[in-house]
Amino acid sequence: MDISVRITPSLTLKNPVLSASGTFAYGEEFSRLFDLSLLGGVVTKGLSLLPKEGNPTPRICETSSGLINAIGLENIGADAFIAEKLPFLRQFDTSIVVNFFGTSEEEYVLMAEKLDIEGISALEMNVSCPNIKKGGIEFGKDPHVLRRLTANVRSATSKPLFVKLSPMVTQIGEMALAAQEGGADALTCANTFPAMAINEKTCRPILGNVTGGLSGPAIKPIALKIVWEVSKQACIPVIASGGITTWRDVVQFLLAGASAVEIGSASLRDPLCFTEIIRGFADYMREKGLKSVSELIGKLKTD
Ligand SMILES: Cc1cc2nc3c(=O)[nH]c(=O)nc-3n(C[C@H](O)[C@H](O)[C@H](O)COP(=O)(O)O)c2cc1C
Repeated sequence: MDISVRITPSLTLKNPVLSASGTFAYGEEFSRLFDLSLLGGVVTKGLSLLPKEGNPTPRICETSSGLINAIGLENIGADAFIAEKLPFLRQFDTSIVVNFFGTSEEEYVLMAEKLDIEGISALEMNVSCPNIKKGGIEFGKDPHVLRRLTANVRSATSKPLFVKLSPMVTQIGEMALAAQEGGADALTCANTFPAMAINEKTCRPILGNVTGGLSGPAIKPIALKIVWEVSKQACIPVIASGGITTWRDVVQFLLAGASAVEIGSASLRDPLCFTEIIRGFADYMREKGLKSVSELIGKLKTD
């Protein structure tokens, strides 16, 4: 059964289910549990030009229906990824989407140039991390900055370019259009929501960074609304991210307008959830008599 989905002329995912950035590392641990070739795509941990240590611990805590993280974009750096992790990921028959960020516009461009190599299927530019002091959200809240950044990065790479938006803006549609005008091929909607947790016994914040980003089922209804809103305004594909946990969630996000989905927090709870979700989604398509995923995308009935 064909559950593939076309994102750009050069990028077709074998199914609409990808891992999310930061909850799948570089795929090695998960590959011991299931065949990564089952996935529509792997999205790597966010990479920077130089290795990054991240924030003080604790960096993660559970909350009602979700989790708050403040990893601070710890990663091994682009060179080590290319030398050590990419060859491993390339063994699998799946699309490899490399998530990256920079601390300046020049660094974003350098990253895009560096990652313009064989074996990488697409780039996902993170302009939306709430947990670091420099880089991330500061590039994702002003449409002029985002348009210019996207255009500069666009001209530095031949790869399909996803721009991962922040949900923490007044007009997310405006940011989506800015990225689209800059030349983005797809929009990932969206990143985590700023949040915090407090230990009442110690009277201290739980996270070393004090605040972090909320993810998981708690944010799903908000992410669904964002995807619906963005996909009505933008004419490039939307990749959904935010609380997706079951195949039902996948169907709901596609109906809202997403072309594919990324699964993050749910895979920390159950690393095997991908197989269940992809199987459940294929069964739904079969039972509904659908021949192509495009028969679902944006087909929400509102009349
Ligand atoms: C532990 C953790 C680390 C993350 N690291 C990144 C990252 O490096 N780059 C990025 O763009 N998003 C990162 N995210 C955000 C996720 O990719 C995803 O957008 C978000 O968690 C919402 O999806 P979910 O509810 O399925 O987890 C991270 C999320 C978590 C929980």
